[in-house]
Amino acid sequence: MSDAKSLKRKAAEAAFAELDEGLNIGIGTGSTAEEFVRVLAEHVEADFEMTGVTTSERTETLCRELGVPTKTLDEIPILDVTVDGADEIDGDLRLIKGGGGALLREKIVAFSSAKMIVIADASKKVETLGAFPLPIEVNGFGLMSTFMAIRRVAETLDLTGDIVLRKNGDQPFITDGGHLILDASFGRIPDPEALSAALRSIPGIVEHGLFIKLASVAILASEDGIERLE
Ligand code: 5RP
Repeated sequence: MSDAKSLKRKAAEAAFAELDEGLNIGIGTGSTAEEFVRVLAEHVEADFEMTGVTTSERTETLCRELGVPTKTLDEIPILDVTVDGADEIDGDLRLIKGGGGALLREKIVAFSSAKMIVIADASKKVETLGAFPLPIEVNGFGLMSTFMAIRRVAETLDLTGDIVLRKNGDQPFITDGGHLILDASFGRIPDPEALSAALRSIPGIVEHGLFIKLASVAILASEDGIERLE
């Protein structure tokens, strides 16, 4: 196992160790969340009882392949806990998510959960959010108008930088919800709450990748061990 993969696995195992049997668990998206699915699958095979609600078609497919039982969020609208990765985590447990393009479902599932445990390798911890481009999920209708509105509201917060349409090969990347993603390279986001509120005022934005007041715990794995932020 590569070093990066083994750190993800370590974080996933530490998160699993915090879970009781019989829980309804939101399951995130991305390579770290996939390690968590693999850990879950091993325990399910040994008769550990749980039900998962996945945040993407990609995670749903992996759960099916590995025998992790899932239901839809409509079948279980309130979850005990969600375990998910992140692209960046700051000291106040504010996150940037959406690198894997699943931010809308991830946010809906996290919001529907009593608790969100973030798992990551320690390199995801930052002083200030924003080095990772902020994913913004937008409706295809009026894309240019929404793009310009994002620029405008960002400038009122002194945020500039490239905003690019995410691509999959030479085609636009399409989310599970049928939307597009704009990745905004602001560099530094000193006031994530203000940016979140400003983006929320733009009708063409379906959701953005700032997760604020959603994570309860972050489990960060490094060569030195596990750091737990809460
Ligand atoms: C997907 C996400 C992922 O959690 C995030 O991109 C981290 O992914 P990885 O664990 O592969 O680094 O938000 O939308």
